[in-house]
Amino acid sequence: MWLMRQAGRYLPEYREVRARAGSFLDLCFSPRLAAEVTLQPIRRFGFDAAILFSDILVVPHALGQRVTFEEGSGPRLSPVLDASAIFGLGPINLTKLDPVFEAIELIKSALPSETAFIGFCGAPWTVASYMIGGEGSRDLTAVRMFAFRYPQAFERLMDVLVDSSIEYLLAQAQAGVEAVQIFDSWAGILPSDQFAKWCIEPVARIVDALRERAPGLRIISFPRQVGSNLLQFSARVRSDCLALGTSECISVVRSQLASGSVLQGNLDPLALIAGGAALEESVRRIRCEFNGAPYIFNLGHGILPETPIAHVEQLVRLVRSK
Ligand code: CP3
Repeated sequence: MWLMRQAGRYLPEYREVRARAGSFLDLCFSPRLAAEVTLQPIRRFGFDAAILFSDILVVPHALGQRVTFEEGSGPRLSPVLDASAIFGLGPINLTKLDPVFEAIELIKSALPSETAFIGFCGAPWTVASYMIGGEGSRDLTAVRMFAFRYPQAFERLMDVLVDSSIEYLLAQAQAGVEAVQIFDSWAGILPSDQFAKWCIEPVARIVDALRERAPGLRIISFPRQVGSNLLQFSARVRSDCLALGTSECISVVRSQLASGSVLQGNLDPLALIAGGAALEESVRRIRCEFNGAPYIFNLGHGILPETPIAHVEQLVRLVRSK
């Protein structure tokens, strides 16, 4: 059991370190502080896995875009990419990410031996949506329009992101993570035909390369909120574990996937905010649907800042109860 965004603003000890660090990226690039906030939820809740504290947008940073996080309004990337800039992009400058690998080494040496250690990156489609849009967006109009208007440039951007993700995840594995999660948070917005092209193919290429070059590394894929497209995804992408968003039905997915597939998810982060009977009922449903199959308990998306700590404690008790 672990929770996406388990190191974050719902924890007072995180807010304290975050205030000391200055900007969000300063926190990501201060090995000692990034290690400290990675370990905080492990100390407090004893989760089975730690996830590296960083962000998917360090990859655009290492590709030369300026990335900032405005308080209250999310990430900003500049200049937004146009077609001509894309042809000058890459390869990724991994030395800009040295502080991340240093943090991984510090975390690895401090983690209890029974705690798994997960690294991550964003999937090309999700990362591209920020590189092209310049900020978060509800409907991803900018990147969807760009993919239609400039297919060659977009394909080249996706190629650069595939190669960058492979090198970045391999370097994380070398520094000490045992598993990686590939976050395709905005995969669910793609129409079926483009889903194969912009989600399945790029992620499959990353996973194939990792399989070949880091055979012991465990891989979790998270194509979020893709519903019935999940089958097509799992037939092509050879990950060890498939993470579900909040909308998929675990029993339906289980009945359709090859047996032996491990699933992760899919508690609604709002049920965790609600707590009490709503949380109890949601956890009961998830445990019942897994019914003895191997699974990793998690949320269907990241934990929200307003989540009460007492509810996370309640969740840990519920998940661990017989
Ligand atoms: O899970 C963890 O604890 C590890 C750390 C982690 C962060 N971001 C820290 C973070 C991980 C795995 C991510 C992934 C990430 N980042 C995703 C994919 C997962 C998802 O949530 O869909 C995406 C889309 C991003 C991009 C991003 N970073 C956004 C949109 C934001 C702003 C949203 C917000 O909550 O403010 C961030 C900032 C961010 N990344 C925070 C944290 C803890 C909050 C910033 C802060 O502390 O000021």
